[in-house]
Amino acid sequence: AGPCDLYASGGTPCVAAHSTTRALFSAFTGSLYQVKRGSDGATTNIAPLSAGGVANAAAQDSFCASTTCLITTIFDQTGRGNHLTQAPPGGFNGPEANGFDNLAAADGAPVTLNGQKAYGVFISPGTGYRNDATNGIATVSLLTCHTLTPCADSDDYLQGRRCPQGMYAVLDGTHFNGGCCFDYGNAETSAHDTGNGHMEAIYFGNSRTWGTGSGNGPWIMADLENGLFSGVTTGLNSADQTITSRFVTAVVKGEPGTWAIRGGNAASGSLSTFYSGARPNVAGYNPMHKEGAIILGIGGDNSVGAQGTFYEGVMTSGYPSDATENSVQSNVVAAKYATTSLTSGPAISVGSAVSFRATTACCTTRFIAHTGTAVNTQVVTSSSTSALKLSASWTVVAGLANSACVSFESRDTAGSFIRHFNFALLVNANDGTQQFKEDATFCPKAGLNGQGNSIRAWGYPTRSFRHFNNNLFVASNGGVNTFDAAASYNDDVSWVVGAAFA
Ligand code: AHR
Ligand code: AHR
Repeated sequence: AGPCDLYASGGTPCVAAHSTTRALFSAFTGSLYQVKRGSDGATTNIAPLSAGGVANAAAQDSFCASTTCLITTIFDQTGRGNHLTQAPPGGFNGPEANGFDNLAAADGAPVTLNGQKAYGVFISPGTGYRNDATNGIATVSLLTCHTLTPCADSDDYLQGRRCPQGMYAVLDGTHFNGGCCFDYGNAETSAHDTGNGHMEAIYFGNSRTWGTGSGNGPWIMADLENGLFSGVTTGLNSADQTITSRFVTAVVKGEPGTWAIRGGNAASGSLSTFYSGARPNVAGYNPMHKEGAIILGIGGDNSVGAQGTFYEGVMTSGYPSDATENSVQSNVVAAKYATTSLTSGPAISVGSAVSFRATTACCTTRFIAHTGTAVNTQVVTSSSTSALKLSASWTVVAGLANSACVSFESRDTAGSFIRHFNFALLVNANDGTQQFKEDATFCPKAGLNGQGNSIRAWGYPTRSFRHFNNNLFVASNGGVNTFDAAASYNDDVSWVVGAAFA
């Protein structure tokens, strides 16, 4: 059985089921997600390898070979059509044209399930998915409520008690931040903040703006609008524990008067209950005012500051029992999520000293160097000054934010590293912050034009080292910045990595 078969047996069926990694019903053979490639704008749908199975990642790899791919749609597996697509502007604009959010890179979050490769949805700040016109998702609408889950009694009906809902999601416990808001779940149909209680979504991260749990985070909390709740009060609820596992199962459920947060390691063991009890004791959160849109990676008002990685998740009709959720957790554990390599192409070895030669026809004598903090390309030869040779030479160290990737330390300025800031590359001293470490971590892959490597930003997998007018950026293949221009993208992001000059 799949997770949604288990929820159905428990009397709380899935009304939305999203995953780029696997089918969530044992009989599901349809499309899991759609990708769009940069070379010609063509799209293809990725299905499971077999009924109920793992996504056909090889089909994505071959469709996306030698170009970039974005995840355009995450299909709903329930048959209700609750697909997730590029989120539109709301209370806040996204970074793309017309205020839309960014789409996720198709290859940003590789994993294996029972040894088979699949890709999750890597959400960078600015990335988001949404569906504002859903079918069967819990709302305040009594008509929708009654069609799906008859209210307990006529008193419920007359008092407008709100439809119960359950959710779980499998996430990357090591990819998070404090921005608002890495969410999956129920939000406003207008993409605007319409008041307390108008959302009920899973939140994951270490935001301290509203609620917190014990330790330093990250925490699973409930985004109920104008508040991330870790328990019955705003602020600290110590029973909500810091998450430490690489893969996380996060559960939030709500019904009239009651709600709960549960969670655990998605790769082993069982769920803990971090909160179960009364709805928040702040005005506006009881009764619920759920509106029934679905968000992924953003806040209800399209706040786009958060990051995280989503592998699979569902929303149910009805309040699932703990027993049902426990069997879903067993199913997730049996799927055997595991990490896999984040890099490809020629090896760039930790401890080596390297240079990066441009491969675009204009510029094949130019190497990545720096002038003060600005990273650029300069013509470097064996007869260049030793200062220039040093400025074009880099020591490869283990990735400051993720040792599966690498960082590049300046040979002439020890303790300073190549990092991106506002998507321009700079050489800056390591200030020890998590933000610096992430901005200075890069995951090399095979060069998009067939030469050398493309050096993608760990935190922005759509973006790789690119020279543009001889200055260095992390650029996407098309986008709103001039340096994101699609023309000559593959050449501009491909570098022959050789021995250092000095
Ligand atoms: O509740 C936290 C956030 O507050 C919501 O996600 C967003 O809509 C609002 O800014
Ligand atoms: O380069 C993009 C972002 O710009 C970095 O992650 C951040 O440090 C800055 O705001």
